[in-house]
Amino acid sequence: MRSYISGVGSFLPPKVVTNFDLEEMMNTSDEWIQQRTGIVQRRWVDENTSTSDLAYEASIKAIENAKIDKSEIDMIIFATLSPDHDFPGTGCFLQHKLGLGEVTVLDIRQQCSGFLYGLSIADKFIRSGEHKHILLVGAEVHSKGLDKTPRGRDVGVLFGDGAGAVIVSSTAITDTETQAHILNTALYADGAHAKELWLPAPSNAMGAERMSQKMLDEGLHYPQMNGRNVFIHATKKMSECLAGVVTKSGYQLKDIDIFLFHQANMRINMKVAELLGIDESKVFNTIQDFGNTTAATIPIGMDCAIKKGVLKKGMLVGSAAFGAGFTWAASVWRY
Ligand code: UT7
Repeated sequence: MRSYISGVGSFLPPKVVTNFDLEEMMNTSDEWIQQRTGIVQRRWVDENTSTSDLAYEASIKAIENAKIDKSEIDMIIFATLSPDHDFPGTGCFLQHKLGLGEVTVLDIRQQCSGFLYGLSIADKFIRSGEHKHILLVGAEVHSKGLDKTPRGRDVGVLFGDGAGAVIVSSTAITDTETQAHILNTALYADGAHAKELWLPAPSNAMGAERMSQKMLDEGLHYPQMNGRNVFIHATKKMSECLAGVVTKSGYQLKDIDIFLFHQANMRINMKVAELLGIDESKVFNTIQDFGNTTAATIPIGMDCAIKKGVLKKGMLVGSAAFGAGFTWAASVWRY
């Protein structure tokens, strides 16, 4: 018994925010953002929309695409760093909105690597025979948590809102060369770098109160990042772990038909391609349109690639991600 991706869906909120819109707020420029990141625009939610709302829309599409009834879903794995509330996990809110009944819900906190961590967990639950259909969703509302003043421009220009979902289902494999299945996933973390990209507050580790006026004044409730250090580690770790998982799967990089990388920076993805000798035309990017939607970038990219006819049934997909923690991961699957 193996697992495969049987359905894919995504949802982006309709409001488009261009780099020119950000020029009005953050003392930045379209030229700087495009040159340094490749981002042209991103989507932001309206005030009444939350992470579980985006996840709901993407999940409905993935369920339809998998041609299953929602009552067949055994488990939700929800990857997000921007939950509706600190607790309970956003997966519980999503389960209720979808009307799924008392199925297992697991929220995971691996930031930009969250989707691939979730894919690995889903694969294990399926291979063990415990579950048949798992809804894996990555969803983020960043826009409500960004410092939209000049102080926050180094991080504020990078992130967007969105959701992507897949259904991971069980299948009996007789032909690995043609049948859809997940071949391998590899997951890593190094907490020595936890404060290189983090949200310091609210916090139980910074004094008597989780939140104080001082923290607010210092902007500690906004994400903080050492961008250069993250960039250096991302290119190294993504390329190393992707090469390893491709080899473990019995293939060479040239055998991979399409690369779905996390979308943090176009330059990171081009550097990974260069380090591995990958043809850039095989790397499918969406960052120009949606910015960095953290746990949602890979399923959104997969959905876009399918809709554009770039990702077709039977293709071998190589995927890699890197994010806060530091965490990083890679996977190979046949679609
Ligand atoms: O999702 C996973 C986690 N995130 C990432 O993987 C992001 C990894 N890092 C990066 O993508 C890049 O490091 C950034 C895009 C964040 C920054 O690019 P960079 O080429 O590393 O720029 P930098 O941080 O070295 O900053 C260069 C300059 C600085 O000015 P000075 O000191 O050279 O005068 C910044 O103050 O650019 C300035 N700057 C900006 N200017 C205009 C920083 N942010 C902005 C901005 N607009 N938004």
